[in-house]
Amino acid sequence: MSKEYERLTKILDTIRAKTSFAPKIGIVLGSGLGEFASRINVAAEIPYRDLPGFPVSTVTGHAGRFEFGTCGNVPVVLMNGRVHYYEGYPMEDVVLPIRIMGLLGIESLLLTNASGGINTSFCAGDLMLIQDHISSFVPSPLRGENVEELGTRFPDMSHIYDPGLKDIARQAAISAGISLKEGIYVQTSGPQYETPTEIRMLRMLGADVVGMSTACEAVAAVHMGVKVAGISCVTNMAAGVSANPLSHKEVSETAARVALQFAELVEAFIQKAGA
Ligand code: HPA
Repeated sequence: MSKEYERLTKILDTIRAKTSFAPKIGIVLGSGLGEFASRINVAAEIPYRDLPGFPVSTVTGHAGRFEFGTCGNVPVVLMNGRVHYYEGYPMEDVVLPIRIMGLLGIESLLLTNASGGINTSFCAGDLMLIQDHISSFVPSPLRGENVEELGTRFPDMSHIYDPGLKDIARQAAISAGISLKEGIYVQTSGPQYETPTEIRMLRMLGADVVGMSTACEAVAAVHMGVKVAGISCVTNMAAGVSANPLSHKEVSETAARVALQFAELVEAFIQKAGA
């Protein structure tokens, strides 16, 4: 057994000593998007700090815990708060919670995040279904010895965001009466926001939104055979697109403004994906 797999099984054993809950869908809530958590009938809660060797987020507004419970009839595990690469953790630690949700048996994973809008037809407050991503600007979470128990050395990423789950997200948006954009997410390392020139470069490369999470998590999940969907909340227009300087305050304020709509969309998605 590899050292990494041993570390994962230790954490899994700690969780299993606290709850036998069997989630079908995993959900990661992005910056300021924690509102959805109130829609879960919580059966068990485990703060990350209770898990041995688990990375704990240092960012304000990122509560750090797993919540197990049901959304309607669907058993889910919610990561309320994630860790980011810019906090200084190695990539395999950043995706460790994803690994754990995979080992807990989730079939599907919904990743959500706050992002900056690169596509000039987008507005702050838009919600975007992630069609595909660019992860080339951050290290791969699969770098290093492959954990054979989890997946293959050279995994295919042709359909990293599952086509069936994308259709479900589109239907969820229609039934919740929410307009859902679609586009390409690019992950940068942060924590600084991009320069206007970097944003022009990212636009030329085909990106519609930019953020500091998600792509690495999608890679780790697909490596394990977990189906992935991604929804991004455009919290601000990226550097140079609008004249305003970027701030975490604007990100938090926009996320708070659309929190209810976002929670509706996630709930509709879970109902349909878990049916
Ligand atoms: N850039 C990178 N990450 C972000 C942004 C941005 O403009 N907004 C929210 N997360």
